[in-house]
Amino acid sequence: MKTAVIGGSDSQGIAKRVARKLNAKYSELQLSNFPDGELRVRIADDVTGKHVVLINGLMPNPNKNLVESVFAIHTAKQLGAAKVTLVAPYLAYMRQDKMFHPGECVSARVMARMLDCADQVIAIDPHLHRIKRLQDIFRTKAKSISADNAIAQYISRNFPDAIIIGPDIESSQWAKTIADKIGQESMILLKKRYSATKVRVVVHGDPARFRNRHVVIVDDIISTGHTMFEPIMQLKKFGAKKIVCIGIHGVFVQNALRKLKKMGAQVITTNTIPNPAAKIDVSGIIAGAL
Ligand code: R5P
Repeated sequence: MKTAVIGGSDSQGIAKRVARKLNAKYSELQLSNFPDGELRVRIADDVTGKHVVLINGLMPNPNKNLVESVFAIHTAKQLGAAKVTLVAPYLAYMRQDKMFHPGECVSARVMARMLDCADQVIAIDPHLHRIKRLQDIFRTKAKSISADNAIAQYISRNFPDAIIIGPDIESSQWAKTIADKIGQESMILLKKRYSATKVRVVVHGDPARFRNRHVVIVDDIISTGHTMFEPIMQLKKFGAKKIVCIGIHGVFVQNALRKLKKMGAQVITTNTIPNPAAKIDVSGIIAGAL
């Protein structure tokens, strides 16, 4: 079956790379708005009998891109696609995985219902915390793939002597896994989040351990940056020579990227969300999963 790769509005760069790797035809999802603001979605390519791979990350425009994806998936099927796979390099709404306050929508589950119209959903390192597997919320086939090999290679090439730090227990699935892959030292910190912007992270152990060291802090998402701010301040105090923050997904709200750089940290992410710090390409990982 032939594959047709279609790039959604915030994923065109990565979608083109995937198409090249798959030797598949690439086209852009055509999008415009009617005068009343309603979205107009059009697939210009002939997709009859093909495996349509729609690559559409749900960030930096989660709501628009979610609707765009649902419309595009239905349209591809209506046009006769044999199979439709949605690749969401960043799958939004995964952090809303329980009713944190009475009456609140458990958005992760609703998002999954909306995207169940695809025959398959693939996401890169979705935020799996209380929900353990994508398959627990999707009814359609769903799989998560990880950028950790690409990040491990990047660290081993550029910061081979660094100690790798995970800012909280959840980040251990990336920080420790990556450190173990390349045989580098690792450490997981303890984080307590009081609100979206109030976070306390404790760097424990002997502070001398960090003197003149290169430190790489690895997390899945850098959003407001608060999870990174505290360890950076403490590590600087402890004499760390260079601090690098690596996020799989660079969400960067509230000027987080600028603030992190101002603190003297080097910031690097993958290209799941287009942003100026996106230096690690994950298109090969996506192509390999298709
Ligand atoms: C939380 O559980 C995630 O793994 C990240 O640590 C978090 O989303 C980062 O958010 P922020 O940059 O706003 O602290």
